[in-house]
Amino acid sequence: NAMLQWQRTGFHFQPEKNWMNDPNGPVYYKGWYHLFYQYNPTGAIWGNKIAWGHAVSRDLLRWRHLPIAMSPDQWYDINGVWTGSATVLPNGTLAMLYTGSTNASVQVQCLAFPSDPEDPLLIEWTKDERNPVMYPPTEIGERDFRDPTTAWRDPEDDTWRIVIGSKDAHHAGIAMTYKTIDFVNYDLVPGLLHRVPATGMWECIDLYPVSGKHGIDMTAAMAASSNEGGGEETVYVMKASMDDDRHDYYALGKYDAKANKWTPLDEEADVGIGLRYDWGKFYASKTFYDPAKKRRVLWGWVGETDSERADVAKGWASLQSLPRTVVLDTKTGSNLLQWPVDEVETLRTNSTDFGGVTVDHGSVFPLRLHRATQLDILAEFRLDPLDIAAAQEADVGYNCSTSGGAAGQGALGPFGLLVLADARHHGDGTEQTAVYFYVARGLDGRLHTHFCQDETRSSRANEIVKRVVGNVVPVLDGEALSVRVLVDHSIVESFAQGGRSTATSRVYPTEAIYANAGVYLFNNATGARVTATSLVVHEMDSSYNQAYMASL
Ligand code: FRU
Repeated sequence: NAMLQWQRTGFHFQPEKNWMNDPNGPVYYKGWYHLFYQYNPTGAIWGNKIAWGHAVSRDLLRWRHLPIAMSPDQWYDINGVWTGSATVLPNGTLAMLYTGSTNASVQVQCLAFPSDPEDPLLIEWTKDERNPVMYPPTEIGERDFRDPTTAWRDPEDDTWRIVIGSKDAHHAGIAMTYKTIDFVNYDLVPGLLHRVPATGMWECIDLYPVSGKHGIDMTAAMAASSNEGGGEETVYVMKASMDDDRHDYYALGKYDAKANKWTPLDEEADVGIGLRYDWGKFYASKTFYDPAKKRRVLWGWVGETDSERADVAKGWASLQSLPRTVVLDTKTGSNLLQWPVDEVETLRTNSTDFGGVTVDHGSVFPLRLHRATQLDILAEFRLDPLDIAAAQEADVGYNCSTSGGAAGQGALGPFGLLVLADARHHGDGTEQTAVYFYVARGLDGRLHTHFCQDETRSSRANEIVKRVVGNVVPVLDGEALSVRVLVDHSIVESFAQGGRSTATSRVYPTEAIYANAGVYLFNNATGARVTATSLVVHEMDSSYNQAYMASL
């Protein structure tokens, strides 16, 4: 049981007990960050009595748990108060839209308001008497109509717009736009905002503008673009959570409000077929605009990959990812950059610099630390240029998921870090989670870099889904291979190349825990020496630090 207790995290958001899924209605209100979430108050598994859990924070990191904000207590949400989003109204108050699962399991949209807008903690919520405010349109299934977005104002006709996801009769994923004046009466805007064949039900759609420096508010971006008259066009991210394969896919595009059309910049990287927010366990995410720090912040639900039985035994299930800032990668122009919010750095305590270590092929190098269960690791690697030049043979078909993981061997990879690795001995069979790069020369002679995370040896326990996740990450001329790895007991959350690619894993070590958890550099490339040109490991405090919580 101590082993199960060990899995609780030090600086990732989680309720005190029971089941959690999607982040809901994240918003900044009167000096507080609010996070609501899908919560089952009666146990550690999902069920038909999902309510909205609620917590507040001054810094997105140190949370105070509050009473349940909304429970399934009306005919229109008696089977669940499902996912929804907050909208900040011009007078500063809030409107909350969420999906209700009715007494007949029909998905309808519902409206709620803070009972006391003066209360910065927003403890009490009132459901509107006119609920439900939206029924599924006749063209779609009555159980395929959920997860309304935050509303924004359209400057053309000064009405609000929201988007809801579904699928059509041909199994295409679709995004529908509604307009409203009062949040009670809605009109379906003709046409579809977007549709991608064969992608199935789109859950938890998100649509927002991005810049290269800071976050932008949807309403402000729309107002600016209508005043601009043909200036630089804003890039709009569309994200959908694919119920078919349980991953969050996004794409960059243009948004034409008048035509009610969002179009991808690159059709081959459209929603559901191209980029993912995260290559590991990360789903049903949602962003919000933070006016205090002028940034857009992303939360994602990180579920368990152990068995339901294990979740029941430990009495809780799921984490939220670290809150991540999201900006456009102006260097590539073709992807986002995600990065843990700056506040995470306030938890750094002991910091050790290991920069300059070179690891020969076929070897591992232990990093001496006090404690290796809560870490923030920043690493930059360079391969010896002579080794790269010598690796002339093409190496095609590498795939994180199917090419042998960290135990595989190629000329220029894999190499990287082993975390939550057994510090007592290192060798076959010991527990470890590998975060690594694999560089391969293509038929065109160019180098392609794969960024992968190998869970296959993360635990000796059974009944755990263990995979190797990851994908190709863009590396520009002159760039080192860089990765930031956040280790927090049962989660490893990694950001490669400044956040171009991310991979999150849930891991359940049984031996590499407490003082036995270690970190190693490893190099399994057959033809290259790897130097960690910079490498800093920060040990991390817990965010539920008692003194701080008492001061709230
Ligand atoms: C996504 C989701 C949403 C739904 C909610 C129910 O994980 O299925 O589509 O609103 O969870 O808990």
